[in-house]
Amino acid sequence: MPETDPRAATGAAVPIAVVGATGAVGRTLIDLLVQRGFPVGECVPVASARSAGQRIDVPGGTATVHDLDRYDFSGVRLAFFSAGTGTSERHARRAAAQGALVIDNTNAFRMAADVPLVVPQVNPDVLDRRPDSGIIANPNCSTIPLVRLLAPLRRRYGLRRVTVSTYQAASGRGNRGMAELRAQAAAATDDPTRTGPVEAFGVPLAYNVIPLIDTLLADGFTLEEQKMRQESRKILRDPTLDVTATCVRVPVLNGHSETVVVDCDAPVDAGELAALLAGEPEVRVWADRPPTPRTLDDADLVHVGRIRVDPEHPNRVAFWLVADNLRIGAALNAVQIAEVLVARGVR
Ligand SMILES: NC(=O)c1ccc[n+]([C@@H]2O[C@H](COP(=O)([O-])OP(=O)(O)OC[C@H]3O[C@@H](n4cnc5c(N)ncnc54)[C@H](OP(=O)(O)O)[C@@H]3O)[C@@H](O)[C@H]2O)c1
Repeated sequence: MPETDPRAATGAAVPIAVVGATGAVGRTLIDLLVQRGFPVGECVPVASARSAGQRIDVPGGTATVHDLDRYDFSGVRLAFFSAGTGTSERHARRAAAQGALVIDNTNAFRMAADVPLVVPQVNPDVLDRRPDSGIIANPNCSTIPLVRLLAPLRRRYGLRRVTVSTYQAASGRGNRGMAELRAQAAAATDDPTRTGPVEAFGVPLAYNVIPLIDTLLADGFTLEEQKMRQESRKILRDPTLDVTATCVRVPVLNGHSETVVVDCDAPVDAGELAALLAGEPEVRVWADRPPTPRTLDDADLVHVGRIRVDPEHPNRVAFWLVADNLRIGAALNAVQIAEVLVARGVR
């Protein structure tokens, strides 16, 4: 068995809590724990008072959702947090102090010095021990697939500059975002002037694209774009890595796409790069046609296509990627972090 297979570890099944268990990421995470055979002991679903008392499916059966404000994490070994940045800010350090090792899916601690920011395929070495904070952060949904491809590119060709544009799905705003896109699409089907509900994205998303995700910052970039630069630098341990991002919401239900243009230190051979990326763990390179969010056959892979070298700039390569944001960009990355921790006996 590979070292990251938690079934290789000895010891009892792991008691866990899933905070945000009723949300899009939380539900996906619970599915993945079952699908991947993670050694779950008791699994406690946790959400807000709105959902407390509901029974939901968890590994091994069903369980009652607990109210986070009243939940004590003593006895929990791993706590997955996917319930919004403010919720993590209020409760994650408390959960860690009560003994849980927190894997946080939000933006609350990603850039904190005492919190490792981890993509298991890129920087698993930082998972050797429990961090002093008791918190490990999962990167942003667009950053994860990007750095998984930049890491091998850097090893082979060196990175000089990265320019990325994203095409981000409605599910990036969770259950609410998907419901709103569905309602808008239904409303506009019969009458294109009807928008349906407009709450999650500020303007209608159906039959539209929105070049503004998260807060607009003073420098004209958005917080989402800033996250891609800062998080890539932290994960790849390159504080001056040159990353310029434009993040765009598109009317896709699930699955983020990105166009990536990389200026390298050395000339790139497109065929060689395709073979290099195809040899990376859990990456599929599409040769004949590009991957699209609706035609992915395996949601647990990063899909790459349209790899091409600029004929006027041999050091410049462009490619297209698609990755399931709820899985690769959130829940799967978190579960894979947990798998490494359990396999290494970190608690
Ligand atoms: N969607 C993505 O692609 C993605 C990717 C990476 C990271 N993330 C991050 O993951 C988090 C969850 O995203 P999502 O897409 O799953 O959102 P979602 O579908 O809206 O789900 C939100 C979850 O958080 C819970 N929650 C909200 N406020 C709470 C509170 N005050 N106390 C306790 N629980 C609370 C909700 O419980 P109730 O049922 O009680 O409301 C629900 O379970 C966000 O921080 C998001 O930024 C999402």
